[in-house]
Amino acid sequence: MQVKKLEKIEKQADKELEKVKDIKSLKEIKIKFLGRKGVLTNILRSIKDVAKEKRAEIGSEANNIKKQIEEKIKEAKNRIDAQKVIDEDSHLDVTAPGIKQKIGHINPDTLMMWEIENVFQKMGFDVYEPYIVDNDYNNFQALNIPEDHPARDIWDTFWTENDLIPITHTSSMQNRILRNNKPPIRAIVIGKTFRNERTDARHEHSLYQCEGIYVDKGISLSDMIGTLKEFFSRIFEKKVNVQITPDYFPFVEPGNAMNLSCVLCDQKGCRVCKYTGWLEIMGCGMIHPNVLKEGGIDPDTYSGFAWGFGVDRLAMLKYKINDVRLFHSGDLRFIQQF
Ligand code: PHE
Repeated sequence: MQVKKLEKIEKQADKELEKVKDIKSLKEIKIKFLGRKGVLTNILRSIKDVAKEKRAEIGSEANNIKKQIEEKIKEAKNRIDAQKVIDEDSHLDVTAPGIKQKIGHINPDTLMMWEIENVFQKMGFDVYEPYIVDNDYNNFQALNIPEDHPARDIWDTFWTENDLIPITHTSSMQNRILRNNKPPIRAIVIGKTFRNERTDARHEHSLYQCEGIYVDKGISLSDMIGTLKEFFSRIFEKKVNVQITPDYFPFVEPGNAMNLSCVLCDQKGCRVCKYTGWLEIMGCGMIHPNVLKEGGIDPDTYSGFAWGFGVDRLAMLKYKINDVRLFHSGDLRFIQQF
């Protein structure tokens, strides 16, 4: 009698669980059959009233059915969950506008180089990349700096074990450019250079430089000043001023430092320009006759100017960055701003 009752309960549970479509009804079924006052629980409780010989049989049968119902409830739950995912998927609107993904950021050094190349290309300059490691001839000798000359102390130079140089400046390309072109020559060299220096907020051992040379008949310092003033005005999108002061580099004569009117305070005076209104921005000057000669160009017919500035320093001014070490820090808080 009791066994029959159990079989009936099992069938009933099966029927209900097959039809169930939502979690709420599933919970109700669970309570109905397995809950504290559930039908199966009632039977298990009333086992004590059953004749002794039958107790074991009914007990184990009831427990079996209990396990099976629990298993089927689990299956029903999985089925309901899977159906939910399918239903939600069918709400996918393929015509809805996409969400713009911004993957990766451009380092401000790279941004600055792109801008520099852009401006100089529009002004008629070719763009070169330097050899990252070069020989003594190109980094020094061709630039009027003989071996053992004290002027080499200007650059804190790294050397490789086989006496090559991770270039100390992009001037290392001057000789190749002079040799491989006929005047008029207008070229910039943009790339990475290396200095054996202690790093701080304004100094890095690895820095980007932009070199420029312009060679033709009748070129003078005023061409240099005009060209670079135009370049900086385009980069900072406003009229800027430049001035030159005397400086020394073996490959230019006269050699100069160029100052740029402070683009941060417009010469009103600020901490960056140390209240002078001017920022020292680069070395430059008229190409030394020895350098022209070494490059196969007759200094009696042609003259030219050259310059070299730090790309990182320019980027610091343009994007208002106060520590050069940030460029290579890999700090996402920094790079995500660009
Ligand atoms: N090469 C020089 C430096 O790195 C800069 C420079 C380039 C100066 C060209 C004059 C002319 O310090």
